[in-house]
Amino acid sequence: MTLQLGTYPVDPPVVLAPMAGITNVAFRQLCREQGAGIYVCEMITTVALAVRNPKTDKMIEFGPDEHPRSMQLYGVDPVITAKAVRRVVEENLADHIDLNFGCSVKKITSKGGGSAIPWKRNLFGAIVKAAVDTAAPAGIPVTIKMRKGIDDDHLTYLEAGRIAQDAGVAWVALHARTAAQRYSGEADWESIGLLKQALDVPVLGNGDIWEADDALRMMRETGCDGVVVGRGCLGRPWLFADLAAAFAGRPERVMPNLGEVAQVMRRHAELLVQWWGAEREAVTDFRKHVAWYLKGFPVGPQLRQAMAMSSSLMELDDLLGKLEHDEPFPVANLGQPRGRTNSPAKVVLPYGWLDDRDSAAVPEDAEHDDSGG
Ligand SMILES: Cc1cc2nc3c(=O)[nH]c(=O)nc-3n(C[C@H](O)[C@H](O)[C@H](O)COP(=O)(O)O)c2cc1C
Repeated sequence: MTLQLGTYPVDPPVVLAPMAGITNVAFRQLCREQGAGIYVCEMITTVALAVRNPKTDKMIEFGPDEHPRSMQLYGVDPVITAKAVRRVVEENLADHIDLNFGCSVKKITSKGGGSAIPWKRNLFGAIVKAAVDTAAPAGIPVTIKMRKGIDDDHLTYLEAGRIAQDAGVAWVALHARTAAQRYSGEADWESIGLLKQALDVPVLGNGDIWEADDALRMMRETGCDGVVVGRGCLGRPWLFADLAAAFAGRPERVMPNLGEVAQVMRRHAELLVQWWGAEREAVTDFRKHVAWYLKGFPVGPQLRQAMAMSSSLMELDDLLGKLEHDEPFPVANLGQPRGRTNSPAKVVLPYGWLDDRDSAAVPEDAEHDDSGG
């Protein structure tokens, strides 16, 4: 059965994971040109949206042909969340809202935000309900994305999934790690299967899909209804072509040589220039992608470094021209983790946070623009 997001069929059932600083309109276009599915924008804080922060208003731009327009919101306060969603509805800013409850960075959890919220079940439920109740009359589906819990002794995903389901979400996505795991170790796909068994709404699995066949395996092993793909597509937007092929039962996989990768890099930088409207900012933004694109290719450190410091398209072109274009795709790298990996860490929470699960008090100073999930 095709996965539905409100009136939108999601076929194949693939979602580009929201990634702060990455999944802007340029990167989404690059990915959308490769495959199909839902492509979620960078995380937007509800406060910034509600007060019309100009930087945020730039971040919520969508392509003219981008449907559904999928926006991820991060909020800690039901009232402000409702206000932000009301703006989305009244100004027709998006067709789908995803709520982020997965952020594990210290500056967020230490204030009681992000992945600390589901522990406070009433607060969590109130935020989700505020978003759904405001979006539903406009026919805008709301989904949530969360982690397994704070740590192995404080798991929340089954209960949070039920609360979100009761509030009326269209699906629940689970990044199958605890906040304490951050990006370390392996995602625990078994928890995705358990969540699937516990809920009636669709469950999307997230964590460690490095190749298209991993997505099929996750679906098979967990029974989940769709997959959310993050780090696997960093420097590899063509992973969405592989995913489309895999879900259609086709065996072909994209293995670009270095010359073809250079073309994708050039296009990515160009799309960033179009979006930023300023070449220097755009090419500077592109720098973080260089190592991901070149991962596994035999490119010397000087050339890599020069590319990661370039500040104009001309400079980038010149450097891309120096790559050995016939170099074949480094197949030894297939299936390997990419992007952010780190070690586990004790989750820092506000004093006494774990003592009272039923308080719906709104955490203070727990919204920051630049935090992921
Ligand atoms: C650079 C980066 C930024 C991220 N930003 C967000 C974000 O804004 N919102 C969110 O819900 N998750 C964010 N995440 C988490 C991803 O959406 C995803 O849950 C996580 O990377 C696990 O999936 P993966 O193994 O496919 O990468 C971010 C991850 C990375 C690596």
